[in-house]
Amino acid sequence: MTREVRVRTPGKVNLQLGVGPVRDDGYHPLATIFQAVELYEVVSARPRTDDRITLEVELASGLVVAPGSIPLGETNLAWRAARAVALAYGITDGIDLHLYKSVPVAGGMAGGSADAAAALVACAEAWEVGATRAELDDIAATLGADVPFALHGHTAVGLGRGDALSPAMTRGEFHWVFATQATGLSTPAVFDQFDRMTSDAHRPEPSAAVMAALASGNPRALGAAISNDLEAAALALAPQLADTLSAAREADALGAIVSGSGPTIAALGRSRAHSLAIAAHLRASGTCAAAFTASGPAAGATVLPT
Ligand code: C5P
Repeated sequence: MTREVRVRTPGKVNLQLGVGPVRDDGYHPLATIFQAVELYEVVSARPRTDDRITLEVELASGLVVAPGSIPLGETNLAWRAARAVALAYGITDGIDLHLYKSVPVAGGMAGGSADAAAALVACAEAWEVGATRAELDDIAATLGADVPFALHGHTAVGLGRGDALSPAMTRGEFHWVFATQATGLSTPAVFDQFDRMTSDAHRPEPSAAVMAALASGNPRALGAAISNDLEAAALALAPQLADTLSAAREADALGAIVSGSGPTIAALGRSRAHSLAIAAHLRASGTCAAAFTASGPAAGATVLPT
């Protein structure tokens, strides 16, 4: 009997996204501080007796997804993660993958990267390849710059392409609100727009103010310190996001920024109750497709009981 393995991975928000000038390989040097939030993708994997890799996608209720925005088959990052594990360990069996998605699609919260990270761990467990964590980290980095963080979770500084991680000290819980849009933004398009708009980009450094706010568990200081160098580029491509940011500020969010490459807006509340009030205000403002709360930090890839 083949066993099914279920793995959960978190979405993320970038508390800082410092972006330097584009490199020859098309990537940008980053100084970013990721925080994983309690909004999860769950990937189930069940080995097959033939060599096919199959993929099914299920959406959590309330997740608004533009038609055609989830790649299916061989272009999906979870499919590619399964293939990468098979190649790395000489596995010739196939696998059935089932994705349960709660993280906004093409939203700047690394949902696709979380799928890839969960599929990596689920396939490695289901095929019993005996992978070490370091080996999975290496495969993760070949799949995308945000995939290693989805494995890692918690709060971390990311240098290089964002995939050279070191853990960040944090105290307590932070109460986030995420406001999504009906249409996603393409990450490469936002970076290209950044290049067009920015002639003076220099190599970024991790923010001492964000690190100090995290270490002291001070949401007010964190709200004042969060920043995103891609925000102007995302706003140029999706100008309506300015209204979503204003709505979050009207509700006294401690800080509000574009999450990653957008278009999701992340707003920080003083408490769980305040984050629920910000979400309600955002919904009533009519400036977003959906608004929901999630706290951070959250654990990285976790094998769930079956
Ligand atoms: O690594 P991943 O496939 O997730 O990256 C998607 C795109 O985002 C890249 O092709 C690149 O255009 C952009 N990117 C970047 N610099 C980074 C990370 C991503 O320019 N550090």
